[in-house]
Amino acid sequence: MHRWTAEEGRHAIVIRDYLIVTRNIDPIMLERGRMQNMQLGYDRPSLGALRGLAYTSFQELATRVSHQNTGRFSADPVADKIMVRVAQDENLHMVFYRDALQAAMELAPSAVVKAIADEVMNFSMPGAGISGFVRKAAKMAEAGIYDLRIHHDDIIWPLLRYWKVFERTDLDAEAEAARETLGRFMGKLDAAAKKFEDRRAAKREQSAPR
Ligand SMILES: [Fe+2]
Repeated sequence: MHRWTAEEGRHAIVIRDYLIVTRNIDPIMLERGRMQNMQLGYDRPSLGALRGLAYTSFQELATRVSHQNTGRFSADPVADKIMVRVAQDENLHMVFYRDALQAAMELAPSAVVKAIADEVMNFSMPGAGISGFVRKAAKMAEAGIYDLRIHHDDIIWPLLRYWKVFERTDLDAEAEAARETLGRFMGKLDAAAKKFEDRRAAKREQSAPR
């Protein structure tokens, strides 16, 4: 029991130890932030098991990809090794939830497709309560660790394809409608990602030494 939670705890320990030992971060600021975040807690309103499985599938994959990218971005082989190892665990978490939802899909495709559509259109990471989250998320996007393009291409679409959301022919009218809305949403997400990439490229060009 709780083995999984214990493993997630290790991720925090190894990343924190790395940051402290390498003097990469102000330890007082880090500890204050941790205290604040733990006191705030995390309580997601229960939207049912299917929404929960959809949420955790996307969230674990997002964690895996952003951890991997963080390691690469660090340009430090030790940090990279740590983050690759953490990302491996996150991948196992993702696979578990993804396959559980796939099993549900075989039993109740319409309910699952509706849950997936609702989740994609209302997704936010558990870290949203961290102080300065918006600023930090913007920095991560600038660095290419996690941005709209990654969210669209590497998180949402691979799972939608895996579950064959847009290929199913056994949905009820309500689920069909939800899927159409989801299709339009994905189009808008792609456009927003393109806009972000263009803006970032222009900004990088501006700040590049001449
Ligand atoms: Fe995880």
